Amino acid sequence: MRIALGMDHGGFPLREALLEVLEKMDCEVIDFGTDSPDRVDYPDYAEKVGLAVQGGEADRGILVCGSGVGVSIAANKIPGIFAATCHDAYSAQQGVEHDHMNVLCLGGRVIGDELAKLLVKQFLNATYLGDQPDGDRYARRVGKIIELEQKE
Ligand code: RB5
Repeated sequence: MRIALGMDHGGFPLREALLEVLEKMDCEVIDFGTDSPDRVDYPDYAEKVGLAVQGGEADRGILVCGSGVGVSIAANKIPGIFAATCHDAYSAQQGVEHDHMNVLCLGGRVIGDELAKLLVKQFLNATYLGDQPDGDRYARRVGKIIELEQKE
């Protein structure tokens, strides 16, 4: 799986753990940085990751800021991006299965390395159920989200 990875300085503490788990899972990483603890602006990274997923260069994205909130708000401004902050395993899995989440957002000041790695595994191992034969209720709900996106 091709994964676009982006973070600001608040997410930087999780960087090595995320690269490690992505390598273990044989992912191809499109690494947008940042690769230092120097201050940067999280919307710039949300834009890069979001556009990579929107354009199909990446299958899914992972974004990290201090709380996971800023990057999710920014990424969700890009049509086709379904980003959410998940700090529990259930949501990281169900967000994909039910809600078509394609960008996982994490808070580098909220969780530690091991939980971050577990959440990435849940996220990447999950499949959207709206494409399954009995998944019409998920597809219907996601369709309504897409309609919201198209409202001016
Ligand atoms: C940066 O200080 C911080 O505001 C950012 O990483 C993020 O937490 C925003 O949601």
